[in-house]
Amino acid sequence: MNNNTIVHKYIKPLIHTDDVTVDMTVGNGNDTLLLSNLSKKVYGFDISSEAIERTKTKLTKDNVTLINDNHINVDKYIKEDIRLFIFNLGYLPHSDDNNHTKAEETLIAFKKAYELILNGYIIITFYIGHIGGKDEYYLLDKYIKQANIKVIEKYKQDKINSPITYIIKKSS
Ligand SMILES: C[S@@+](CC[C@H](N)C(=O)[O-])C[C@H]1O[C@@H](n2cnc3c(N)ncnc32)[C@H](O)[C@@H]1O
Repeated sequence: MNNNTIVHKYIKPLIHTDDVTVDMTVGNGNDTLLLSNLSKKVYGFDISSEAIERTKTKLTKDNVTLINDNHINVDKYIKEDIRLFIFNLGYLPHSDDNNHTKAEETLIAFKKAYELILNGYIIITFYIGHIGGKDEYYLLDKYIKQANIKVIEKYKQDKINSPITYIIKKSS
């Protein structure tokens, strides 16, 4: 099973119908669609307007607020308690590769996301085979260890450079 399939299976029992969730990288909208079907309300970020458009065409419910902005600005848009954030890092497939997530920005966004959770989860997938993906993974992994953040599950297929997913839990 690939990381996205695992993540989707994992997410389902974690979200209740009155929860608010956030997709920090909407891309093609697959994760946003799942969150929309499970949650009361969803926020979705992407720096690419093409990703926002692709996501719009996929959604079937009107409970999603799509935001065409860098996810480092998450705290400007969200002031409420969030049950789950998903970060599916990397770039938009079949698009400009330069729009890939960048280590320092991802760290800022991750810290802000963590602050917005009272009791909930961050699910983050690193693409270590992509440009900058290894640096991004090392930086975030170092921070997560230093800050004593609880990783309850790690998933990586048994192949060199295959993506790595962390499931992180925060309890108040
Ligand atoms: C691998 S794709 C996401 C796939 C998506 N979750 C799905 O289900 O199809 C990564 C996305 O992150 C976006 N992205 C890159 N840097 C970003 C940033 N700083 N803030 C928000 N989105 C960003 C890219 O434009 C791209 O669409």
